[in-house]
Amino acid sequence: MLDWKRENSAAANFMLSAAGWLIIGTLMGLVLAIEFVFPDFAHGIPWLVFGRLRQAHVNTVLFAWLSGAMMGTWLYIVPKLTGRKIWSEVLGNICALLWNVGLLAGIVLILNAYTQSREYAELVWAIDVPVMIVLLLNMVNIYMTVRHRVEQKLYVSMWYIIGTVMWFPMLYFIGNVMWAPPTGALMGVNDAIFNWFYGHNVLGLWFTTGLLAVIYYIVPRETSTPLYSHFLSLIAFWGIAFFYTGVGAHHLLWAPIPYWLKTVAVAESFGMIIPVLAFMFNILLTMRGNWSRLRSSVPLLFVITGWAAYILVSYQGSNEALRGVNELTHFTQYVPGHAHLALMFFAASTLIGAMYYMIPRIYGCSIYSTRMAKAQYALYVIGFVTFFIGFTIAGLAQGTDWVHLGLPVWAVLPGLRPFMALRIMGGTLLVTSFAMFGWNMVATVVARRPLDVPDAVMLMASADRHKVSPILSEEG
Ligand code: HEM
Ligand code: HEM
Repeated sequence: MLDWKRENSAAANFMLSAAGWLIIGTLMGLVLAIEFVFPDFAHGIPWLVFGRLRQAHVNTVLFAWLSGAMMGTWLYIVPKLTGRKIWSEVLGNICALLWNVGLLAGIVLILNAYTQSREYAELVWAIDVPVMIVLLLNMVNIYMTVRHRVEQKLYVSMWYIIGTVMWFPMLYFIGNVMWAPPTGALMGVNDAIFNWFYGHNVLGLWFTTGLLAVIYYIVPRETSTPLYSHFLSLIAFWGIAFFYTGVGAHHLLWAPIPYWLKTVAVAESFGMIIPVLAFMFNILLTMRGNWSRLRSSVPLLFVITGWAAYILVSYQGSNEALRGVNELTHFTQYVPGHAHLALMFFAASTLIGAMYYMIPRIYGCSIYSTRMAKAQYALYVIGFVTFFIGFTIAGLAQGTDWVHLGLPVWAVLPGLRPFMALRIMGGTLLVTSFAMFGWNMVATVVARRPLDVPDAVMLMASADRHKVSPILSEEG
């Protein structure tokens, strides 16, 4: 790890520690997948009981892995786009430390059954406090850097980051009902409405906006091409801010909440097609003439996979929010299938790509093994497709059997076993692929292999352009 005052050390510490959590979190997922096929697998071990391990898996991958890595990428991107070092490297490192220690405690507590059991708001109040502190300090660090910026223009990635770091602490406070420490909950159905207002906005106004910033940064850089259109990125930005905030109730289409709230959620979910189309075309047109770069750039390969997955998951989501479709898919494995297409294939791909881009640059070296990175990508895609088919077919079979054939749960379950087994197979490939990624990252930092000559030339060229405009290739 870098000295904690050195430039970019906070970014590196956030990202590298997150990579460790990725391996731990996905191993938990694999045990869950095994428990679906062999329910007695962890018999007698309380902290491996499904109810605890599922919450621990979700919190490990969402907060310790994805959120930690994402904050690390912002600490790298913001100085590049403002022309200033991060306001306080020490503060950034304190945030990285507090984040990891807080979440370690939170995950251990969940495994020991200390949970508030509201989805994505499971962490108990004592852990919500350090989480909030990090979110606020991180916001201050980024805002102070922006305030002292040399580059006056605020580019696309910056709007997203600035919006995200302000929205999320408010959401976290409201969604976790932090003014009621013992329960972290309201009463009755109001609590469900609150929980899902927060729940979908964790996805929409934290991961989505936070990660689109990363895609908007990496694609122009790795292709040395200006972003196709500033106007399209404006439509995408305001479209997400407008439509995403009201979609929470699409998680509650069969709950006794006001009908009008459900209708607003369905309409806004469908409206999401507008910003998604704008984002899709903006990156597609930026990539025009650059597709061959996918062969030579590992970061771009992962980030473009993340972009494609974002488009797919959003169209799937708009469709899944329609009452007729949701009746079939809700309460089935189809929903976690969508969740993994989103948070693994979109979010994790984008962050893995960003780390392959940023870590070697921070340490001034090349990726330890590009061949291993490409092999990791192949395992990842095969593993994900197998895994996703398992979830989706199992979900559609469950829904059809229940809704159209009226079969009871006990009659449906035995037929699902082969699809559940597919998840173990795909999941094993995925965990192997993430372990290869973690190893490659650590080896990159430890071995610090010198840059190949063409890479060094490219890096110097981008540094030169950076002097003219820190934004490099984002269109002004
Ligand atoms: C246009 C965009 C999207 C729409 C309209 C949408 C819609 C939906 C719907 C209707 C559900 C199922 C609710 C249910 O039946 O229980 C759902 C679940 C979910 N979505 Fe999306 N989605 C979109 C994009 C995304 C993105 C970009 C992410 C991640 C960043 C995401 C992550 C999830 C997750 C994790 C769940 C599972 C929630 C749970 O725990 O039940 N979605 N989404
Ligand atoms: C970056 C990697 C991953 C992320 C971000 C992730 C995220 C999630 C999320 C958000 C959920 C809750 C879904 C919902 O409520 O609808 C979930 C549940 C689950 N995940 Fe993962 N996951 C990852 C990797 C894995 C892996 C590698 C496996 C298996 C080998 C796995 C297996 C499971 C299982 C079995 C569940 C429970 C599904 C259920 O309750 O029906 N996950 N994961």
